Amino acid sequence: MPKKTAPIDLSDSFEKIPVHIFSDQKDGSVFVAKQIAALIRLKQQQKQTCVLGLATGSTPKSLYAELVRMHREEKLSFRHVITFNLDEYYPIDNDALQSYNRFMKTHFFDQVDILPKNIHIPNGEINKESIKDHCRQYERKIKEAGGIDLQVLGIGNNGHIGFNEPGSGIYSKTRLITLDNSTRIANAYEFANISEVPRLAITMGISTILQSRKIILMAWGSAKAAVLKKAVEDDDTEQVPASLLQNHDDVTFVVDEAAAAELTR
Ligand code: GLP
Repeated sequence: MPKKTAPIDLSDSFEKIPVHIFSDQKDGSVFVAKQIAALIRLKQQQKQTCVLGLATGSTPKSLYAELVRMHREEKLSFRHVITFNLDEYYPIDNDALQSYNRFMKTHFFDQVDILPKNIHIPNGEINKESIKDHCRQYERKIKEAGGIDLQVLGIGNNGHIGFNEPGSGIYSKTRLITLDNSTRIANAYEFANISEVPRLAITMGISTILQSRKIILMAWGSAKAAVLKKAVEDDDTEQVPASLLQNHDDVTFVVDEAAAAELTR
């Protein structure tokens, strides 16, 4: 009798990061929101604060909408949650329409019971001489809060996470970075015209992100399909910053079918 061998699961063999595929963005966002809610409630039972790393852009909007719904309808409380946002344009007024400070208020913070003192977002208003110190303090505050329990990420068309553009090193920390032209073009829709898009940003570094205990990256739509394949299947490289997440042992990509379309499986 020929020896029976277990069937080979080809779906995993090309993927260096676990990928959960959902039929659409709504289902994927609900899945991520449930994970966040479970973590907040678990930490609450343990009388501990829950430290979340948060992202902006169009990708997490449906996640925030679901968390706001859970707050209103399911009594999910953010009173013991501490947040650190990934990034902010520089320079920018905190209340400018395109500011990530304003984005977070509008889409999330103003609609839940989080305490203002527990919110941290890089400040696009400070003067240039203070930036280094501001970045050092940002890293220190993350450590003092006990480190990030769960970091939520989106992915740029060029593979950036936060504003860590291609070339960002695995040891990089919170810092001022020059935006790629492709990023400025991709984000120009938020501004009156391309010349209004800031040339600089303050971003958590790759190492800051990798120090989080758990990471979930979300991606929706066909525009992300090519870069998603590179990040998940190719060797890790600074040229595709999201591929550096292959070096973390608890990272999951949550994507819709359109973003998963180029995966080899
Ligand atoms: C932006 C943000 C990133 C975001 C990415 C994708 O510029 N700095 O944190 O993940 O680019 O944006 P979007 O979700 O709009 O596709």
